[in-house]
Amino acid sequence: MGFEVPQSEVLNVQPQYCLFDAMADALAGPGWGAFPSALSDEVLNELCRIAHSKEYNRPARIGRRRKQQHNPQIRRDNIVWIDGSHPTQQAWLDWSAQLQLWLNRSLMIGLSFFESHFASYAPGGFYAKHLDIFKGPNQQMLSERAVSVVLYLNPNWIPGHGGELVLYGRDGEVLIEIAPTMGTIVLFNSADFLHEVLPAGEQRFSIAGWFHRQPASALALPVA
Ligand code: OGA
Ligand code: MN
Repeated sequence: MGFEVPQSEVLNVQPQYCLFDAMADALAGPGWGAFPSALSDEVLNELCRIAHSKEYNRPARIGRRRKQQHNPQIRRDNIVWIDGSHPTQQAWLDWSAQLQLWLNRSLMIGLSFFESHFASYAPGGFYAKHLDIFKGPNQQMLSERAVSVVLYLNPNWIPGHGGELVLYGRDGEVLIEIAPTMGTIVLFNSADFLHEVLPAGEQRFSIAGWFHRQPASALALPVA
């Protein structure tokens, strides 16, 4: 893979090219990848500080729109959606936008939108096995979530703290368990991997995000 993108279009992310290429390769190949230290220390430490200082008063919900519900049997994290109101949050959104551009150019997957939130799991918190997409009445895919991203913000995490992300393969086998250690970024194709968050022994902080793709129906132009 790998091709030239004019400098003017990529702002200051030149050193990320190698990483973005590795991420594109991971999504095109096995469909997932885990990358330690993907962001600059400056942005990472500041995101970590923000994540730890947020007030998480909104239990995360599952499902879409009117079917949304808070179900503590399934997930026990609390979330705060990210917007660009803080320069470091904007830096995260800028980084995501650069990655989106890179993935679109290298994989031609037409990602059109990115959403992300801080998540906090209190001790004992978990997220049971799930897919990041939602199915409609006839098993039809309603969501356009195409690529899931998770960034971990836990500087002092040790193996005994639990809270690993487990990715499952098509036959239900465990593909990998990833510890939520500071700076690790995980990417996977949203439709393809059941996954779960094992109970965390300590407060566990992360950012979870999704690149969306235009649903095919939205791309079909009406005939005049
Ligand atoms: C999610 C999720 C994984 C993690 O928020 O949908 O699966 O490791 N998070 O936090
Ligand atoms: Mn998930």
